[in-house]
Amino acid sequence: MGSVDGRVTGRWARAPLAALLGLVAMVTDLDGGRPDHPASFLYFSYGSNLLQQRLRLNNPSAVKVNVGCLKGYKLAFGIHNNTYSRWGGASATIVRSSEDEVWGVVWRLNLSELDSLDKQEGVPDGHYNPIEVIIKQISPGEDQLCRSYQMNVSNYSFPSQIYKEVICTGAKQNGLPAEYVEKLLDIETNSYNGTTPFILDIKEMLNQVKNNLNPLTSFGKVAVSL
Ligand SMILES: *[C@@H]1O[C@H](CO)[C@@H](O)[C@H](O)[C@H]1NC(C)=O
Ligand SMILES: *[C@@H]1O[C@H](CO)[C@@H](O)[C@H](O)[C@H]1NC(C)=O
Ligand SMILES: *[C@@H]1O[C@H](CO)[C@@H](O)[C@H](O)[C@H]1NC(C)=O
Ligand SMILES: *[C@@H]1O[C@H](CO)[C@@H](O)[C@H](O)[C@H]1NC(C)=O
Ligand SMILES: *[C@@H]1O[C@H](CO)[C@@H](O)[C@H](O)[C@H]1NC(C)=O
Repeated sequence: MGSVDGRVTGRWARAPLAALLGLVAMVTDLDGGRPDHPASFLYFSYGSNLLQQRLRLNNPSAVKVNVGCLKGYKLAFGIHNNTYSRWGGASATIVRSSEDEVWGVVWRLNLSELDSLDKQEGVPDGHYNPIEVIIKQISPGEDQLCRSYQMNVSNYSFPSQIYKEVICTGAKQNGLPAEYVEKLLDIETNSYNGTTPFILDIKEMLNQVKNNLNPLTSFGKVAVSL
């Protein structure tokens, strides 16, 4: 699944039935016996969705489960169909690379938000394709089968400064390993400095997050107060 030239060849790309079966494998609460506890799935984020507030804009049920590591992939920045995103540059994706690893956050989302997450990732337009990944937890624990997304890349390029800021803020917010955060802080950016309504909204969101960043506040409390 996945490839270095950016064309996604995984079974998610072509086979809706396989995709459905894959999803069932990821739904860990289908049985439940708890009517108050709807079916949910695990999602591994590594890009702008590292930032809780950004993920919850479209997917309000998202709750952090843990920080985790995807082995055998590297973080890359690409564009789809030769077009920069509204972030003004390339966006994050994961690319197979045997010696590398990508750190991120495992979230639990209500199954009812699968569509909103797919839509945010541009799945209906072939922008990102859903994939299944095995995530290693930071402290000993079982591997987690998670949904994640891989871009259908036409070119690799640099992200904008604002996009990088969202990723780095999310990485710090969730306590990704310091060494990995350092790597993120070293990412080269392009010179985009646009002030579209979307970018202004994101800047506003970043300001709010930064002003409220309080290391003594647990994530759970933050989540409830949103
Ligand atoms: C998601 O499910 C939980 C129960 O597990 C429920 O309390 C919550 O309201 C749901 N969130 C959304 C946004 O539907
Ligand atoms: C790719 O971009 C071209 C030019 O902007 C556009 O005409 C075409 O519809 C796009 N294709 C897809 C599949 O989005
Ligand atoms: C993407 O790569 C192609 C081929 O190298 C090039 O012609 C095109 O200009 C590039 N597009 C962007 C947006 O950089
Ligand atoms: C990748 O994007 C191209 C448009 O650039 C589209 O034609 C193609 O169907 C997409 N492939 C996948 C697997 O989504
Ligand atoms: C953005 O950069 C261009 C040149 O790179 C400069 O002319 C312009 O004033 C900048 N705009 C803002 C809002 O900083």
